[in-house]
Amino acid sequence: MTNRLTGYQNAAPKVTLEYADGRQLLLDVYTNEIIRVFMNRGRATNSYAIEGDKHHKTSYTVEDKGDHIELRTPSLIVKAYDNCKVDFYDGDGNPLVMDYRGQRQPLPNDLDEEHQSTVLAEGHDINLLDKTNDHYYEVIKSMSPDEQFYGLGDKPGFLNKRGYDYDNWNVDFGQVHNESVKGIYKSIPVMYGLKNGHPYGLFFDNTYKSHFDLGKESENYYYYSATDGNVDYYVLGGHSLKDVVANYTYLTGVTPLPQKWVLGYQQSRWGYSTSDDRVAKIADGFEKYHLPIDVIHLDIDYMRGYRDFTWDTTKFKNPKQFVAEMRKRGIRLMPILDAGVKQDKDGYDIYQEGIEKGYFVENPDGTVFVGRVWPGDAVFPDFGRPEVRNWWAKHVKFFADMGACGVWNDMDEPASFDGELPTDLIFHDGEQKTTHTRMHNVFGHLQAQAAYEGMKAATGKRPYIITRAAYAGTQKYSTIWTGDNQSIWSHLQLAIPQLNSLGMSGFAIAGTDIGGFQKDTTPELLTRWLEASLFVPLFRNHAEMGTRYQEPWSFDRQTLDTYRDYLNLRYRFVPFLYDQLRHETESGLPVMRPLVLNYDQDPAVRQINDEYMVGTSILVAPIVNQGADKRLVYLPAGKWLDFWNNAEYSGQQTIMVNAPLEKLPLFIKKDTILPWGNKVKHISDEPEKVMTFRLFGDCGAYKHYQDNGLDFKYQEGEYNEYYVEVANDGQVAVKLNKHGYQPTYERVYVETDRGRFEFDYDDSNEDYRLVK
Ligand code: GLC
Repeated sequence: MTNRLTGYQNAAPKVTLEYADGRQLLLDVYTNEIIRVFMNRGRATNSYAIEGDKHHKTSYTVEDKGDHIELRTPSLIVKAYDNCKVDFYDGDGNPLVMDYRGQRQPLPNDLDEEHQSTVLAEGHDINLLDKTNDHYYEVIKSMSPDEQFYGLGDKPGFLNKRGYDYDNWNVDFGQVHNESVKGIYKSIPVMYGLKNGHPYGLFFDNTYKSHFDLGKESENYYYYSATDGNVDYYVLGGHSLKDVVANYTYLTGVTPLPQKWVLGYQQSRWGYSTSDDRVAKIADGFEKYHLPIDVIHLDIDYMRGYRDFTWDTTKFKNPKQFVAEMRKRGIRLMPILDAGVKQDKDGYDIYQEGIEKGYFVENPDGTVFVGRVWPGDAVFPDFGRPEVRNWWAKHVKFFADMGACGVWNDMDEPASFDGELPTDLIFHDGEQKTTHTRMHNVFGHLQAQAAYEGMKAATGKRPYIITRAAYAGTQKYSTIWTGDNQSIWSHLQLAIPQLNSLGMSGFAIAGTDIGGFQKDTTPELLTRWLEASLFVPLFRNHAEMGTRYQEPWSFDRQTLDTYRDYLNLRYRFVPFLYDQLRHETESGLPVMRPLVLNYDQDPAVRQINDEYMVGTSILVAPIVNQGADKRLVYLPAGKWLDFWNNAEYSGQQTIMVNAPLEKLPLFIKKDTILPWGNKVKHISDEPEKVMTFRLFGDCGAYKHYQDNGLDFKYQEGEYNEYYVEVANDGQVAVKLNKHGYQPTYERVYVETDRGRFEFDYDDSNEDYRLVK
């Protein structure tokens, strides 16, 4: 039966469509390029991803066209029909997101109930998405033969997600992460499409368990569904994929500028923190082998019996003093913090306070839920309540007082060794009681927010938080890593599309465990992994206790030397990465990008999984196969220079590149200027006195950003911008464009094929003067 569209009300910026059966569908015009589609199904309407009012004043028109109602902004056209069908077009009338009118064609399933248990008995998975729930719904969109899908956060698999289906439900996933896995630690329900080359985005803001089927079931449609919640999604438009991604980060927030040293090298292993001596020995290794480093991570053993906010003084004689000594050696310490709080009735303040105040998640009968994590029986803070987050944030000060450099949140899916927490547990959504089903996917998000706010209040610096679990928008509070990967080549291969997808999903500071966390790495795998990670913002080697050691000196001489070369090279690029992050905070575009993000009109890049770009001027093509010493590299439009020998190549072609073990294939867009950091052992808190810029090609221009790299003063204008230019005629200029931060560089070098130009800062006119 037809459910007629009977009329509409227009109360800018919202247009309410009314249907014969009494239903209402809301089209909420956020900006010219962002329209929200909303149908209230009686569930909470607050968003955890979007903070503040993101509406821009937008002029749009609405017209009754007889068989449909048409809403137009300068960039999007929406046509609404009977049966709650809505179709989105770009400003030129190209279809973007169109409701599907045909029947679903479920895939045949021959797994009857009797055999389900047989399959499970052998330890195989079966897909049992709960569709029996009364509140389940799905939104089905038609799919074109030429339509690719991107995004969706950390979902393992390939860059183009067409043909696969995924679940959004944060899971502590210890098995191999590959394209057959439906979901791991994070739920970032934003996807991007290129439909016949026309870009769009879809952000499905629903925290309940959701599912995306991107053309697995049918070649005619894709769909997304949720076990509960309101119908709530945003269609994102834009002239390019970049515009669309920028619209997503506009809605959910950008990754804020980190402290600069966060871009330095970080060494970790579950096991170092069993004693201060052991941590000190790792630092000795970095000194002995002349390897730069900024951070050593402390895994769970530094705690007293795995109790959160404790530091075991039998393992660390004087933790605060130890942290200070390490800091003097140029190394910061990053402690882990788990979501589960030890159930300890014997004077453990965190448990005691939480119990007294009723801060832990409860069973339906009102008793506190007890799961099992590292400390044994453990309880879980109810982070949905602002009061609980404030309490947690106050305790986070413990780390600041100890001198630690940040907080590494783990097991925050939340994970329990007894399996998933029951879905009917009582959580809070603000002050409202709700269940685990609504809050599960935002648990890690809210814990990260508490850690961020706690560290910010305690230190006044830009907080360094890492989290394993996340939801859309968590990037505002925390960096992320991709969890427990393995020392296998397929996980190195996965790192590129996974980090690229995370970048498109708002997470500009992300990383994988370099060398692989579980299982034993090999010198070759470790070397290639480090090379591949040269520009990965979160640059950390981490391994599981019991696996083969994977510090740079744990193998042969060649591995150590190559490792050192790439660490030194990384530090050369740190000023560039910092510039890129500054740019990201302004543009909403990630640092690490799949080629398709920069070249969405080039069909040749839409499926590339083994190359990435850094901003728009660097192309990285790592070796990700065991034994390979050459590979094919696709270069997109433009002219490219081989970083190692300056050989020039035209784009839009595939070339063969030799890459013996010590070589990472790396290309710089011709006529690019890049900052070239000083050779250092650690990133200093002291302002740098000298900066070098390198020209690749014949001419170019570059804007470089400088601030104190630590706190929030840049937000009040305490920063400098340098403009470096090499003109076609060879003239070289360095200018201080914006001057809000003291001190400036005393000297700036510009290196070109024609020589090195030296500029000194001239106090009298507050600018740079060519000296030689
Ligand atoms: C989890 C984390 C891993 C950590 C381990 C011990 O598996 O993902 O990084 O080393 O717990 O804390």
